[in-house]
Amino acid sequence: MEIIIQPTPESATDIAARIIARLLREKPDAVLGLATGSTPLLLYKKLIAMNLDWSRVTTFNLDEYIGLPREHPQSYHSFMWENLFQHVNLTKENIHIPDGNANDIPRFCSEYEAQIKAAGGIDLQVLGIGTDGHIGFNEPTSSLASRTRIKTLTRQTCKDNARFFGSEEAVPKHVITMGIGTIMEARQNLLLAFGTNKAQAVAEAVEGPITSINPASILQMHPVVKVCLDDPAANDLQRADYYRWVYANKPAWQTL
Ligand code: F6R
Repeated sequence: MEIIIQPTPESATDIAARIIARLLREKPDAVLGLATGSTPLLLYKKLIAMNLDWSRVTTFNLDEYIGLPREHPQSYHSFMWENLFQHVNLTKENIHIPDGNANDIPRFCSEYEAQIKAAGGIDLQVLGIGTDGHIGFNEPTSSLASRTRIKTLTRQTCKDNARFFGSEEAVPKHVITMGIGTIMEARQNLLLAFGTNKAQAVAEAVEGPITSINPASILQMHPVVKVCLDDPAANDLQRADYYRWVYANKPAWQTL
């Protein structure tokens, strides 16, 4: 794991945007895994401003609420179109977001897995982290080998996401999410976290034991993970000085 600590979300996001831009330049038909929520908003803004060529890129989103109409302003379909897709030259057929209104959700989930495989697998997966350590919507005690499936959100996540829906009660309780096993098959994972409310989950994920109680901790077993943090999100890390030292002494040939 490479832990990159920056003073602000802005500078941490700059690094994440450069990593993705480099991938799209080196591999114009890259397969990107995408996340929603507050964390990647700035990342998408920066990527849009970079005027990259997305025409051959394929995307797979991590998750979607079950039962929320696609056109609902808080659906992840709406989020992605508003904040990224409508601003770049992605080909519509190459965009994949779980369908929270599928008639047969288990079948949809296995087809989603098959589509990821058919696309050649995910080159880079963007991740946020929940205050309870979730990645995608793999809540604590999710199987570390899980695949795309239905999950029930924790009360904590409903509380956290109430800010988007106006009340905790309005947050859908059920979601489709890529599994932890699915995320672990991405060739590279890029996790972003900002703010003190993420500090504990980040510290447990990076320095704690690998446990389904903090699903993000499984990333310790992944060979290529970059974690871009602002100072407050890095607040509880025991070895923050070491991570800063490593990054400051990164050899020039190891550019990003
Ligand atoms: C969203 C997702 C979630 C969020 C996490 C953090 O697609 O998969 O894991 O990344 O809930 O959300 P924010 O960024 O809103 O704090």
